[in-house]
Amino acid sequence: MRRLWRSVLDALTPYDAGPSLEALARELGRSDLVRLSANENPLGPSPRAMAAVAREAGRIHLYPDGGSTALREALARRLGVGADQLVVGNGADELIALIAAAAFEPGDEVVVPEPSFEPYAISATLAGARVVPSPMAGYETDLADVRRKVTERTKAVMLCSPHNPATTIIRRAPLLAFLDALGVDPPLVVLDEAYSDFCDDPDYPDGVRLLPRYPRLVVLRTFSKIAGLAGLRVGYAAASAETIDRFNRVRAPYNVNRLGQVGALAALEDQEHLDRTRRLVLEERAFLSTELTKRGYVFPPSQANFLLIRVPDPAALRARLLKAGILARDGASIGFPNHLRVSIGLPETNATLLSLL
Ligand SMILES: Cc1ncc(COP(=O)(O)O)c(C=O)c1O
Repeated sequence: MRRLWRSVLDALTPYDAGPSLEALARELGRSDLVRLSANENPLGPSPRAMAAVAREAGRIHLYPDGGSTALREALARRLGVGADQLVVGNGADELIALIAAAAFEPGDEVVVPEPSFEPYAISATLAGARVVPSPMAGYETDLADVRRKVTERTKAVMLCSPHNPATTIIRRAPLLAFLDALGVDPPLVVLDEAYSDFCDDPDYPDGVRLLPRYPRLVVLRTFSKIAGLAGLRVGYAAASAETIDRFNRVRAPYNVNRLGQVGALAALEDQEHLDRTRRLVLEERAFLSTELTKRGYVFPPSQANFLLIRVPDPAALRARLLKAGILARDGASIGFPNHLRVSIGLPETNATLLSLL
């Protein structure tokens, strides 16, 4: 018999994103369903992004700019890096896959805190690399353990800050000590900053600013969260020009579509919407945190746009929330049994959530 499929696929289960919001709303018979399970933007997309997408609609018969040049140049100006230090992807998800395609080979090791955002381990496994899990210390990334797991076979370390789903950050001093301890020939250190825009801890380091000092650092960011463009699929990686050149060799020629490119560019320039989103998330996060603490709930202090709350019976609570039109994520499916992960919503949604807890 001809063996068609790679044996590595046997060990993988497809990423379960759950039913679409529309399918779920139909199934439950309610059009007002609010999804607090995917860490989306409660305010919706930037109005300027919507207008830009509408303007571009008449040009979708034309291939997009394969290099996302205008967006990269705008990002480069904003971040103070060269445009050749950036690659734009079809969501940060694609960039995780690009890292694996460009760097990982059978026999390589990839150190991944566990639990973590699932695509890190999936991409590494797909590439034939061996995932070396580093257990979290409760809700914190255990950098000392990660460091101990780095060997000469380690190709990359996948760090996430703020962490999904644990909501905690890696602070500046421990991160720098960790990077320094890796020495002069370190593996790639991927710092996934998908939720960085929601941090208000002064000890949160800006990964992009560390690039000159640590040339093997790869910083991931996304327009899905703060900019509210999850449906357009746009993210980017910032790294050394040499690293970005390698990623460009493995990406598809037109990986980011026209609507994504113009939408992201407009969202980047819509400071008002970015500020409004940040303000809302920070205010509501503080409010929810205070109220939950008053009610005796235990959860790590969040630096993201979601909370990971310890609850006695997540399935029952999830069902109760669903009845009220709120969709939350059961922590058991993301490595935190007896927890519920809920995105910060609009004030009225958060009030309903509290009334049901
Ligand atoms: C930590 C983390 N990284 C990356 C992503 C993927 O972002 P994108 O929507 O840009 O693919 C997510 C999405 O939820 C995430 O939580």
